[in-house]
Amino acid sequence: EFFFNRKKDFLGKRVLITLGPTQENIDPVRFISNHSSGKMGFEIAKAFQHAGAIVSVVAGPVHLDLSQFTTHRVTSANEMFEVANRLHSEQDICVFAAAVADYAPSEIAKEKIKKLDSEAVIHLKKNPDIALELGRKKKPNQLHIGFALETEQEERYALEKLHKKNLDWIVLNSARDEGAGFKVDTNKVSIFHSSGRVTHSAVIPKSEVAQLILNEIKLG
Ligand code: CTP
Ligand code: CA
Repeated sequence: EFFFNRKKDFLGKRVLITLGPTQENIDPVRFISNHSSGKMGFEIAKAFQHAGAIVSVVAGPVHLDLSQFTTHRVTSANEMFEVANRLHSEQDICVFAAAVADYAPSEIAKEKIKKLDSEAVIHLKKNPDIALELGRKKKPNQLHIGFALETEQEERYALEKLHKKNLDWIVLNSARDEGAGFKVDTNKVSIFHSSGRVTHSAVIPKSEVAQLILNEIKLG
């Protein structure tokens, strides 16, 4: 079914992929993060590379061998934004697969925070929204693809993000299904195009989700 992989459909195209979680430091020994494994972004990066693209990866802390790509390893959302922003103008396609932390501690304590007898409070500030900021300077020949994982009103929230972030496609991960989400190798997705086109998948391996996404881009 997915023969196009051999046809180098994306020969010479420049593709930027953000993937993995970000880590937001609290003090020298602690951070806030999430369960993203980076696997979905990794499969997309591999699929584009096989299809002839020049792939740049901006990766948060993940346990993946990313040596086959031009890889920039980062820790925080601010670092991820800085690198993605610098590389953005030369890209044909940007895939925002990272699970970027929405907030970071307002200040990073210089010393390890000591345990109190009372409750503790960590003040948080908003992180940059990488997809939103880069969406503001997207050129007509650039294609932006985002992801969404929702636990309620899935389609409504996904479409809101599609429009707000000026994305061309948004891939909605089904959080409700067994065999879909952060840690497993399979996923079930709906792919929404800004034109209104929608494609739904069954529960399939993340490598096949990647092929499906490339196929959708090819079809426009
Ligand atoms: N995203 C990003 N930078 C952020 C937050 C999100 O680039 N600081 C990107 C993600 O990589 C994804 C898309 O935006 O492609 C949607 O991420 P999501 O966390 O679902 O959306 P948010 O706008 O953060 O909304 P919320 O978490 O409140 O649902
Ligand atoms: Ca978020």
